[in-house]
Amino acid sequence: MLNIIMFGPPGAGKGTQSRRLMEKYNLTYISTGELLRKEIKEGTQIGKKVKEQIEGGGLADDETIVKLINKAIKDHESSEGFLFDGFPRTYVQAYILDGLFIRLRQKITSIFILELPDEVCKQRLLQRAKEQDRKDDNEAVIKKRLEEYHQKTLPLLEFYKDTGLLTHIDGTGTEDDIFRRISKHVNEDLKKKATNVVMFGYPGAGMTTQANRLAHELNLKVISTREMLQEEVRLQTSIGKQVQPYMEKGLLLPDEIVIRLLEKKLLENNSSERGYVFKGYPRTLVQAYILDGILQKKGQDITCVINLNVSYIELMKRLDERSRTSRRMPYDSSASTIVSRLEEHETHSRGVLEYYREQNQVIDVDGTGDIDEVYQRIKEPVLRASKNLRQIL
Ligand code: AP5
Ligand code: MG
Repeated sequence: MLNIIMFGPPGAGKGTQSRRLMEKYNLTYISTGELLRKEIKEGTQIGKKVKEQIEGGGLADDETIVKLINKAIKDHESSEGFLFDGFPRTYVQAYILDGLFIRLRQKITSIFILELPDEVCKQRLLQRAKEQDRKDDNEAVIKKRLEEYHQKTLPLLEFYKDTGLLTHIDGTGTEDDIFRRISKHVNEDLKKKATNVVMFGYPGAGMTTQANRLAHELNLKVISTREMLQEEVRLQTSIGKQVQPYMEKGLLLPDEIVIRLLEKKLLENNSSERGYVFKGYPRTLVQAYILDGILQKKGQDITCVINLNVSYIELMKRLDERSRTSRRMPYDSSASTIVSRLEEHETHSRGVLEYYREQNQVIDVDGTGDIDEVYQRIKEPVLRASKNLRQIL
């Protein structure tokens, strides 16, 4: 997810650039200035309260702003990313924004500061006054707005100074020039962003097939905890020796052991920076938390969860067919083991799916049809969720 903040003096072109960014990167645009003007126009209680302050070039109070922002975010809960124009504007609002992102379990991707001399801002706004009817676009009020920016908003950069999020953008030149400067940075951020997909579904839903194909096409690595464990056993590593008895008896492994294995795989030096497709993990709610925690150590997160839906009848058919081939799994051996395996998945999967649904990460995909058909259904939403560069650039 991309979450961008546009910063800059009045007239710097925040609104102009935001509209283009919003379109290109499919972001939800939230401009506190526009929200406030709408309240004034509709004559609401908030509108009446802030009219004088705004039309005089002062700032609205933080209490009002937090109410407006809260509502705007609630209206767009399933957004693929936010673009804030003119918020935060005070030190208090920077804390409010932090709180909002914690609640959304999101992070700010970048803060762009459009830089333009006051005199040029003024000229642009006086020009805008001839084209649009904004009550605050007159010389006296523009002066006051610029003062407010220098006094209350600019010091706010101090709040972000050690975050590495700030990017100064030269705000002079044509709209296209400025847009190119900003896009260049956004694209760099996107390139750095890893894609991590969880392939989820009942045994027999086609997870292995689809995970391998997706990883191959997007240049990601497949992480299958079962295969990793088998490899440890084969190499007789210390983890391998510990897990062997569990695996031979078909028991669920203690999370502590799997954690160490995942850490080793994901945090090692030559680990994939582009991302992973997880298959067969997480299986429980606890494991979903663990995976989030390990990815967070890498500065990454889950991009999306593909939930492959296949009917029970179709699953039974597929697993029964597989049981008669060399690709047979130990749990394919009889109808009763297949059923208990499906039951086990059903018991645990609910919690995992709920966890990811709360974060709007689940993409439900119909898993019936041939392999190619199913893959096409998966590929498009994954690319969208990861804002894959091959699509955008
Ligand atoms: P807000 O609506 O945010 O206004 P602002 O910060 O004063 O900025 P503007 O919208 O005037 O300028 P912009 O940077 O968006 O420039 P634009 O793209 O339009 O806030 C208004 C008021 O609401 C505040 O004063 C405050 O009272 C209140 N408020 C808002 N948020 C608040 C908050 N969080 N807390 C408290 N109070 C809050 O461009 C300007 C003009 O230049 C346009 O005509 C455009 O066509 C032109 N232009 C753009 N780019 C170029 C270019 N490259 N070359 C030539 N012309 C250009
Ligand atoms: Mg604006």
